[in-house]
Amino acid sequence: MCGILGYTGDRQASDILLNGLAKLEYRGYDSAGVAVLNNGEIKIAKNKGRLKVLEEKIKSGQEVPGTCGIGHTRWATHGEPSDVNAHPLWSDDMSVVAVHNGIVENYREIKNELAEHGYKFYSQTDTEAAVKLIDFYYKQEKNPLKAIIKAIHKIEGSYCFVLLFKDFPGEVWGARKDLPLIAGQGKGESFLASDVSAILQDTRQVYYLDNMEIVQLKKGVVRFFDTEGYAKHKELSEVTWDMNAAEKGGFEHFMMKEIHEQARAVKDTFGSVYHSGKINLEDLGLADENIKDVSQIYIIACGSAYHAGAVAQYVIEDLAKIPVRIELASEFRYRNMPLDKNALAIIISQSGETADTLAAMRRAKDNGIKTLAIVNVVGSTIAREADSVFYTMAGPEIAVATTKAYSAQLIACYALAIQFAKVRGVIDDAEVARLITEIQALPEKIDEILDEKEVLEELAYKFVNARNAFYLGRNIDYAVAMEGSLKMKEISYLHSEAIAAGEMKHGPISLIEKGMLVAGIMTQKNLYQKIASNMLEARSRGGFLLIIATRGCEALKDEANFIFNIPETDEHFAASLAVIPLQLLGYYVAVARKLDVDKPRNLAKSVTVE
Ligand code: AGP
Repeated sequence: MCGILGYTGDRQASDILLNGLAKLEYRGYDSAGVAVLNNGEIKIAKNKGRLKVLEEKIKSGQEVPGTCGIGHTRWATHGEPSDVNAHPLWSDDMSVVAVHNGIVENYREIKNELAEHGYKFYSQTDTEAAVKLIDFYYKQEKNPLKAIIKAIHKIEGSYCFVLLFKDFPGEVWGARKDLPLIAGQGKGESFLASDVSAILQDTRQVYYLDNMEIVQLKKGVVRFFDTEGYAKHKELSEVTWDMNAAEKGGFEHFMMKEIHEQARAVKDTFGSVYHSGKINLEDLGLADENIKDVSQIYIIACGSAYHAGAVAQYVIEDLAKIPVRIELASEFRYRNMPLDKNALAIIISQSGETADTLAAMRRAKDNGIKTLAIVNVVGSTIAREADSVFYTMAGPEIAVATTKAYSAQLIACYALAIQFAKVRGVIDDAEVARLITEIQALPEKIDEILDEKEVLEELAYKFVNARNAFYLGRNIDYAVAMEGSLKMKEISYLHSEAIAAGEMKHGPISLIEKGMLVAGIMTQKNLYQKIASNMLEARSRGGFLLIIATRGCEALKDEANFIFNIPETDEHFAASLAVIPLQLLGYYVAVARKLDVDKPRNLAKSVTVE
């Protein structure tokens, strides 16, 4: 997510903007910039890299004098981190200058239409399309409000824009859909921000914009409009959070904030490849003929990314009927396995910098295998070296334990599975449409699960002194068990193990002790009875049965110690829902143990060493 700031008042805008953007640095960014409107001219300074570079560039504000401006820290989604792709972006005659957070899903169509009106584009960003669309309407209307209204009726996606209009001195405009935008009220000055923490040092009097609202700032005056252009009254709120709480959006930890950002990450990731009613992978170098030629798939990753690949193996094999191998990168890089040159290697990595994964990808490439990376960080090493990249749209992930990036990786894999199955003639258009509808329903179902999180918080206290736990599943549920077990062990330091439920009788069952947590994941109907018998074996030896089951599964309703039901969905996508309660359970046990949830001992967010 990008950091956004706007200011108008009597103070030097550049000071306010840089101080405010510095408060947003924790979110992670790859470039930064400011624009200041002064004496009918908008001056812009921006660069790839840190705020410090920008500060030196504007020479403490001398290069961008003025008391009305906007600022931005960019987390790249479309277009590599670079000076050109940094925000602000502008219309050719500088009438309109803007910064943006979010995704303009239909930016390709908008660019094509504007090109017919003579517009040219110099960046790789989706934002530039939006800025020039607003300029297109502004040239017709000569009115910021009307231009913004027309543009937001056309733009699809989730966004928050903050803009300057050269002919409207002292004014800052903003509009939002799905992503937060806050207006701050000061004495003779006013603010816009994507995040309260950017303006807390200046004011605690704020307005929270609702979806599809437009805001106009003048010195100390804040006005709101609806998409019909009518003025709206909004209530002023007092921010009671301290800075620490504000950075976490009011959550106690980044991990919980990011668990709650999963619905957005899922929606944005799928939206990045779903246009005009179909999945389009051409930008990923996967045109239909490429897909048809794939003989088999190697999925190579570490940790949670590997667990996402484990889910993908079942889904791709079942939908597209392509053989899929999942490989731990640290093993793949040293194993002398015969490699199939017609295979596709899918490299999954949140950071795009994991040393083992990078080395494994290089080995695949050295053997002439086409590589597709699924990565969350634009411009990361794996992203740059892969033959093509499917960027997850999870935004910056701060907590060491991944949640929203893992969920976004699942969505990327589902999209690949559906498109491969369609192109290879395994499923028809009706089935494609049905599966897409199921994916589009996932964000709401994720939030539905989060609404019930308190029951897991209570349960967690039962295991505050536990020493071991088992996570059992079969098929996709086994892959979910892997991720649930990792979440528990890495942040609560409770030793846990994921077991293919059918393997219990081959050894692990000897470890069951009275009261031991045995979590069973049950989302695959044809296997309900199978795993139920495994769970009953654990119960007969004293295990505490926690069942994560799709609503309607009655298999263990009398025998389980605790059942958490998740909403129904197509079973291929059940992992996206079953993992949520397991993320929460690991989180709550770590909190109950008073551990550092966001920064667990011995772990790093990106393992760039062997
Ligand atoms: C996940 O919660 C862990 N922090 C870790 O297993 C992580 O998934 C692994 O290190 C891979 O990281 P990557 O996705 O950035 O390559």
